[in-house]
Amino acid sequence: MNHCLTLLLAAAMALPAALMAQTPASAPAGFTDAARGPMPITGTTTPPRLTNSVNDDRRLPRNYDQQPPVIPHRVDGYQVDRNFNKCLDCHAREKSAFSGAVPVSNTHYIDRDGKVLDRISTRRYFCQQCHVAQEPVAPITGNRFQGTATTPKTTP
Ligand code: HEC
Ligand code: HEC
Repeated sequence: MNHCLTLLLAAAMALPAALMAQTPASAPAGFTDAARGPMPITGTTTPPRLTNSVNDDRRLPRNYDQQPPVIPHRVDGYQVDRNFNKCLDCHAREKSAFSGAVPVSNTHYIDRDGKVLDRISTRRYFCQQCHVAQEPVAPITGNRFQGTATTPKTTP
């Protein structure tokens, strides 16, 4: 308990100094933050293990224009490589009537020269470069970000 208190006090005093320093060579003694805990900047933390990701199939509102929607279901073990794309099994336009999944939008069929293709564009092939599943955890820091008026409240 005493130890914790000392750490907290030290952190409170060390923080402004850390913010003022342009390029701190290393963390001041006792520096702590929500993501790293008391681990010095030069050290490597052990991140908590991933649990089961959110799988409630409830599409989440987007936070800003052009945000790739987050994935409301588990994707563990889905094969996405040069031989096969499991996501397209449900999300390809021609599969969505059967699967009930939201079809990928037209942008996913346009190549970098603006040409509309009859198959998914290679630049949209690796879905998880942009779309991510969600972990059911509370954010470790506050966030007051607000989208603009043009942000779609929900996906179309
Ligand atoms: C077995 C079918 C299936 C597979 C495979 C699948 N999905 Fe889905 N996905 C769905 C369904 C169904 C929904 C819609 C949830 C709902 O509205 O009930 C969905 C929703 C989504 C959404 C949310 C879209 C939005 O507008 O909010 C994204 C993004 C997504 N999936 C990406 C992926 C990615 C990436 C993969 C591959 C790693 C994948 N899905 C594999 C069925 C699937
Ligand atoms: C380079 C980033 C990128 C990649 C790769 C990508 N997407 Fe997207 N995706 C987006 C963005 C941005 C949006 C929202 C704007 C739009 O529709 O273009 C989106 C929208 C979607 C939507 C919602 C469509 C709608 O009408 O609401 C689905 C479903 C989706 N993507 C699935 C996929 C799947 C499946 C793959 C892989 C085959 C994939 N995406 C690859 C960026 C990407």
